[in-house]
Amino acid sequence: MENNLKGKKILITVDPTREYLDPVRFITNESSGKMGFAIADVLYNQGAEVIVVSGPVSMQHTVPVENVVQLVTVNEMFEACKQYFYLVDVAIFAAAVADYLPKNPSNCKIKKSEQVALVEFVKNPDIAFEFGKIKTSKQISIGFALETNDVLDNAAIKLKSKSFDAIVINSPKKDEGFGFDTNRVSILKRDGTINHYPLKSKNEVAQDIVYELQKLVESIEQTH
Ligand code: C5P
Repeated sequence: MENNLKGKKILITVDPTREYLDPVRFITNESSGKMGFAIADVLYNQGAEVIVVSGPVSMQHTVPVENVVQLVTVNEMFEACKQYFYLVDVAIFAAAVADYLPKNPSNCKIKKSEQVALVEFVKNPDIAFEFGKIKTSKQISIGFALETNDVLDNAAIKLKSKSFDAIVINSPKKDEGFGFDTNRVSILKRDGTINHYPLKSKNEVAQDIVYELQKLVESIEQTH
């Protein structure tokens, strides 16, 4: 297929985020950012104008550093995305964000004086969901779903509720997701079609995702 991503403005969220309990302790997850940065690099190499909004994990990448916005928490990621979302043709939500943050983080290191330490959590904004509400018919968005059960049903619900055009489904199994160099994904599109891919390097998976994106761009360009 002809490269239709040259000059396209693309926002991509990558990495885990952190939510601090006190100055030295935080809640996070095992995401390495490898998948997100692999997609960003493929897009950049295809001539897209890529803005990466990245959590606090450093990965090697070919996207120039001035195109990478570094942050730590979900609220910071949300604020950074607000600056770019309305300017972009495509948004890819590849970040593994924390769903909750501590309601009252401590300014000082929490001492181990109690037998039981209770922490109250409040919900973080769902970035993909919020932008799904304001997305225009010319914008394309792609999300990710990591599911352990009722995989296809849950992914389909997520695709609809967050107004994704496609959702990349991966699993937490060994070699297939968080932290590994390989991934096994399925890509479900809004029209209900689904492609299942074998275990591949994250770079090859990124190329498959970008190929599906090119098809979505082609169909949107035909209708506008
Ligand atoms: O609901 P769930 O977290 O499984 O949805 C995953 C998708 O939504 C991913 O694309 C992720 O980047 C995005 N997401 C987000 N903001 C959140 C939670 C998830 O952008 N607070």
